[in-house]
Amino acid sequence: MPKTSLRTHTCGELTVKSLKERPILCGWVHSRRDHGGVIFIDLRDKYGMTQIVFEPQCKFFKEADQLRREDCIKISGNVRKRPRGMKNEKISTGEIEVTVSKLEVLNKSEVPPFEIDDRIESNEELRLKYRYLDLRRPLMQERLAMRHKLAMATREYMNSQSFLEIETPMLVKTTPGGARVFKVPSRVNPGKFYALPESPQLYKQLLMVAGCDRYYQLARCLRDEDLRADRQPEFTQVDVEMSFVDAIDVQNIIEGLLKHLFKEGLNLHVKTPFQRIPYWEAMEKYGSDKPDLRFDLELKDITEESKKSDFGVFKNAQMVKCLCVPKGSQFSRKELEELESFVKIYKAKGLAYFKITKGKLDSAFAKYFNDKVQKEIIYKTHAKDGDLLLCVADIPEIAYAATGALRLELGKKLKLINPKDYKFCWVVDFPLYEKVEGKWEARHHIFTMPREQDMEYLKKDPEKVLGKMYDVVLNGVEIGGGSIRIHKKDIQAKVLEVIGLTYEEAQKKFDFLLEAFQYGAPPHGGIALGFDRLVALICKAKDNDIREVIAFPKNKAAECPLDGSPQDWQESMLKELNMKLDFVKRENQEKTDKFSKYHPQN
Ligand code: AMO
Repeated sequence: MPKTSLRTHTCGELTVKSLKERPILCGWVHSRRDHGGVIFIDLRDKYGMTQIVFEPQCKFFKEADQLRREDCIKISGNVRKRPRGMKNEKISTGEIEVTVSKLEVLNKSEVPPFEIDDRIESNEELRLKYRYLDLRRPLMQERLAMRHKLAMATREYMNSQSFLEIETPMLVKTTPGGARVFKVPSRVNPGKFYALPESPQLYKQLLMVAGCDRYYQLARCLRDEDLRADRQPEFTQVDVEMSFVDAIDVQNIIEGLLKHLFKEGLNLHVKTPFQRIPYWEAMEKYGSDKPDLRFDLELKDITEESKKSDFGVFKNAQMVKCLCVPKGSQFSRKELEELESFVKIYKAKGLAYFKITKGKLDSAFAKYFNDKVQKEIIYKTHAKDGDLLLCVADIPEIAYAATGALRLELGKKLKLINPKDYKFCWVVDFPLYEKVEGKWEARHHIFTMPREQDMEYLKKDPEKVLGKMYDVVLNGVEIGGGSIRIHKKDIQAKVLEVIGLTYEEAQKKFDFLLEAFQYGAPPHGGIALGFDRLVALICKAKDNDIREVIAFPKNKAAECPLDGSPQDWQESMLKELNMKLDFVKRENQEKTDKFSKYHPQN
């Protein structure tokens, strides 16, 4: 452990083997107890905690009596065994204590706004404002150390696979599509601005054109988007790009990397290859493209059966999805009402339920389903007596989202999830396009390669075109996503045509990339892992909140309570940039956006 000119040992180092040592320790006063004229202090630093003792005869007893929480001190003393019955098994130094012969107060502390104690949950805004105190907590120190360990292990693995870490620029040109970017005015080029990169996407593709073959980077990405527990405006990706590959090659590298990280971080063996689930299958079974596979409880589709009923809401619905809850008949009316309110968060109009009694549907609506249809529904859902069917009838988008979220809620409520489990999968074959306000748009980015077998649908039925896209999902969290890219002009032109862009128009927007592609761009593809999300999962941060594993995160409103950013423009700054502020306030919009969309389950 680091010995320095101010200390001989750290606070986590001394044991019964150190009884002959005369240590000098530095650290913070974690707690102070006065026991019949003897003062005990838990002295804390990054490495641990040591109990130090001031006996009445100690020259510094009076000063010790004045010590308060978080004072920064230096002591010299002797190591001795703690008396029998006073050992603390929970800490590495728990068998010894240091009797102090000399005390130096290095710096007094103001009364901290909260206790530096892992067992106490402080107000989040306060934690962020005094982040330097929050980070003194052993748990936060452990998380920073784990983050570091995983970053080092990532580099170790990628280097071993012949990847080069290459930095890409932070001041870039905006490219349409993707996330909203932050803009930075240029002082030397008045009236012009740079964008901050939402990811190194275009540059890593240029590196493939440049013949770099295998690139990676622990890349900082910046996105001006609404925040959630798993989103920050600044975050880190393990960004990867490879030449002369197909999806399987990229996936193999990522599986190898994740295996290595879980071994290094948690000493856990991760089984590979991961299960592959096509996008539509994930939506059908789990109502989500990031399924949590730690428990079963799959969704069933009873749209066809419902059409044969006389229950208007079901009969006329585009889709009826349902969940069969084993032994769910025991749910109380209150529980059912709570579940109904829950699905309404996801815009469902209601939650219809049927208990299964004596092989039949049992509810106020059962009379609208004749015996044959009831049998078909029971057969389709594998329902048994005592089970409960919970159904949402709606447009597919809402039916999937509401029952998918309900599945997760029931997983928690019925304690179906083993918190020790780590369940990985690949979700593959995403649709290349989605319809936004009646127009086709690229779902990922316009350089995503369609699957060979779907090329024929590009013109006649874009909805059917699936892309060579893959997301890696862990315990219901999307920890990474990527694709094989289009590197040839003819395919690119066809893909663009669907979204109403000609190649020439696209060239204007993505000029430098498409120009580079003309010089023998190799087939290539890649992926980016959300490093913060991965660390949060490995550290088991509450609600997988990535702020718990980032040293200085922003709050829910994208502000930093610590440094007060974002700050107001000052006249002098504007002058330097040759700018004048003409601020158009969009009534109410900004604040509601910021707060209403913050929902950890989304
Ligand atoms: P994508 O936008 O899917 O792909 O991002 C890849 C992964 O980055 C993580 N992520 C985030 N983490 C924290 N805060 C955010 N705001 C945030 N946004 C995304 C997620 C996500 O899976 N250039 C492409 C990758 C590629 O195609 O190679 C990209 O950035 O875990």
